Amino acid sequence: MTTIPTVKSTSGWRRTIRQIDSILHPLTFMEKRTKKYGDFYQIVFKDSPPSAVISNPQAIEEIFTASPDKFEVGRGNKLLSFLVGDNSLLLLDGKAHKNRRRLLMPPFHGEALQKYGDRIVEITNKACDRLEVNKPFRVRQLMQEITMRVILSVVFGIDSGTRRDRLREILTSLLDVFNTPLSSSFIFFPLLQRDWGKFSPWGRFLRLKQEVKDLIYAEIKERRESLASGVEHQDILSMLLLARDEHGEGMRDEELHDELITLLFAGHETTASALTWLFYWVHYLPEVKEKLQFELNTFTENSDDQKINNLPYLNAVVSETLRIYPIAAGTFARILTQPMTIKGYDFQADTWLMVSIYSLHHREDLYPNSQQFDPQRFLHQTYSPYEYIPFGGGSRRCIGSALALLEMKLVTATILSRFQLALTSNQKMLPVRRGLTIAPPASFKMVVK
Ligand code: HEM
Repeated sequence: MTTIPTVKSTSGWRRTIRQIDSILHPLTFMEKRTKKYGDFYQIVFKDSPPSAVISNPQAIEEIFTASPDKFEVGRGNKLLSFLVGDNSLLLLDGKAHKNRRRLLMPPFHGEALQKYGDRIVEITNKACDRLEVNKPFRVRQLMQEITMRVILSVVFGIDSGTRRDRLREILTSLLDVFNTPLSSSFIFFPLLQRDWGKFSPWGRFLRLKQEVKDLIYAEIKERRESLASGVEHQDILSMLLLARDEHGEGMRDEELHDELITLLFAGHETTASALTWLFYWVHYLPEVKEKLQFELNTFTENSDDQKINNLPYLNAVVSETLRIYPIAAGTFARILTQPMTIKGYDFQADTWLMVSIYSLHHREDLYPNSQQFDPQRFLHQTYSPYEYIPFGGGSRRCIGSALALLEMKLVTATILSRFQLALTSNQKMLPVRRGLTIAPPASFKMVVK
């Protein structure tokens, strides 16, 4: 029997240096490893169970289609509990995960989604009102404002008000704590998570987090009262407040808080980064802009959101944006709860399966000239859910994917139909680490012509 390519992990300070390298330069780190060891290899450690790193479509299919009880995901996501709390969907497994997902899914699908279109366009237009001709603006900041307002509106059902404005402000500051590759290290090294007072990064984070918590609890209390008095709301917070489990029990305030924070974080940073990349690529490559603008010109102000959602070239641009620099370089780790054979290789229980989205999206057999931004590939070929996975897959697939795609398309169509934009520099932009994600640099600017 053939054996799987194996990397022997170093220990002590060498391992720490490698870890820091993978945090600071995640993509080059992955590229080098994949080039050396291939699309399916394992890393063995002296003191802990092995990891397998996977960018092979067949192996990914076997993992995504296996029964969810073969894996544990919550344990691997434990390092996120400082941000999302212990009751978050990200930390649940088994039946609890399945039930919670069932509760959360409806507002992200079908009819529910269609209702958000007008709000997304309205929010985009309002955020863009402050753009001035010839005055450069930070693209990420604008996109983050839009996606934050969308998520607050969709998840919390709140569009204005002093408490809500404060919530928006602090959530933005809270995330900015991790806006550099270096400060992102706080997530990976719990030893750095020390409160040295309100001016230290971690101290600042803790204080902001407490303030967010107080505001969310106040919002939950107010909404409980409003629902009890018979007022109808259609947002996710209200649906969660009304939901009951099989014993007739509703969700506790701590559970609601953790789930709301999860949706806020998972949903707005990711979409803001994706939109920032999209605006960069479209303006970096004039032929892409020309084709997209041509397609968008066939639409008027009154065009239906669903039609915009189905435009083929816009769809190809969005898909290619999420392919070339996937916002999450890998899926959540799947930790085997029992032995499993994948593509003929046997893995023991407790092995960490790490699916590399970035390496899969750069396979030359699937994506020739993979470093080139080329939306045409999505017009000429259909990729399977194991070949193209910006939202992961299987039982943990991103629940916000349809909302994110709709949002990306509507924001792009709204801004490009209203403004002529240009880059302020023609230099190629490279991705940087931002918290758990891979993002465009926060300094990226554009200008209205
Ligand atoms: C472009 C935007 C987005 C990208 C690229 C993205 C990507 C991902 C990825 C890769 C995963 C892990 C899947 C896996 O391990 O198989 C995930 C999970 C998740 N995402 Fe997203 N996401 C985006 C937007 C959103 C939005 C808008 C929301 C909700 C408002 C959201 C909520 C979640 C949640 C709750 C999970 C955890 C699912 C679970 O554990 O069952 N995401 N996302």
